[in-house]
Amino acid sequence: MKITAVAPSNVAFIKYWGRKDEALRLPTNGSISMNLSDLQTTTTVKFDPSFNEDSVIISSSSAFEGRIEKPFDYAQGAVKNDAKVIAHLDRIRNLAGIKEKAKVVSENNFPRSTGLSSSASGFAALTLAATKAAGLELSEKELSILARIGSGSACRSIPDGFVEWFDGDSSETSYAQSIFQADYWDIVDIVCILSTKEKKVSTSVGQQSAATSPHFVNRLKKMPGRIKRMKEIIRDRDFVAFGEMIEEEALEMHRIMETSVPPLFYMTDETKKLVEYVQKWRGEGLPVYFTVNTGENIHLVCEGVNKQKLKDLVSQLDLVKQHILNSPSEGAHISKEHLF
Ligand code: PMV
Repeated sequence: MKITAVAPSNVAFIKYWGRKDEALRLPTNGSISMNLSDLQTTTTVKFDPSFNEDSVIISSSSAFEGRIEKPFDYAQGAVKNDAKVIAHLDRIRNLAGIKEKAKVVSENNFPRSTGLSSSASGFAALTLAATKAAGLELSEKELSILARIGSGSACRSIPDGFVEWFDGDSSETSYAQSIFQADYWDIVDIVCILSTKEKKVSTSVGQQSAATSPHFVNRLKKMPGRIKRMKEIIRDRDFVAFGEMIEEEALEMHRIMETSVPPLFYMTDETKKLVEYVQKWRGEGLPVYFTVNTGENIHLVCEGVNKQKLKDLVSQLDLVKQHILNSPSEGAHISKEHLF
């Protein structure tokens, strides 16, 4: 059977950085995220007895570079992407008790390996499409667990809207679930693409060195309280408290990265220039805040009522090559439009 799934990327407001179990991808702390309506991966999977080997074709696109279909520019120490996909297909074949090889075609509508979490949307879409194509009917929790084993934060792209991922102490207890539906809060995330250069050090490799930072232990102590507070803030739709917390969280994660051994620098001078614009606009009365992950590209968050104003400001900056407007969205779902 041929099945297609669409999954959103997600942006973490409380970040996942550090793992307590590498093989199972159990995070050292829980995290909170929002699914992004306009950063999506679409994946079609078919298992067939006539296929001699698995074939995996992944493409991505950006407004200023067009569609790119090229082999991964393997980041330092990164697991070959096709190999990660095939290992995930093997997990699913084992669960379903089938042996057929698969054809996988996957398209991101945004550049990959640039800190915009294409592995989250990618592995969420792959998990949903491949399990169904293999004849499995898994619950949302089971899909989330499987997506986590495939690629960590992919587990947060399975449920809808605003999502919490429990760190758990076993594979069965580390999964994500929706805490608020997508229409609960009208906020907007404008993703600003400053560059499509692929990051030099993969997230997987970076995650492993988090604990070498002298600040890591302190961070961990704060996390349960911070997660509780973030849920209250979203519940109360308190935008200023929210903005202050997402910036504190992003900067703390980057402090950990920059003080790890070896140190990792994902933010560039361009990223910092945009942060300065955010501070300037805020000073002029526009409530806008930023968050940033493992790349120089940056997320600017505002309330829906300020969307047009922020979009106009961002459009005027030469620094920003492309911007993508996102609202909170549903999680992974099935589509009838196949890619082959
Ligand atoms: O799931 P991974 O291994 O791609 O890690 C995601 C790490 C961050 O994006 C930096 C933080 C997060 O929680 O999304």
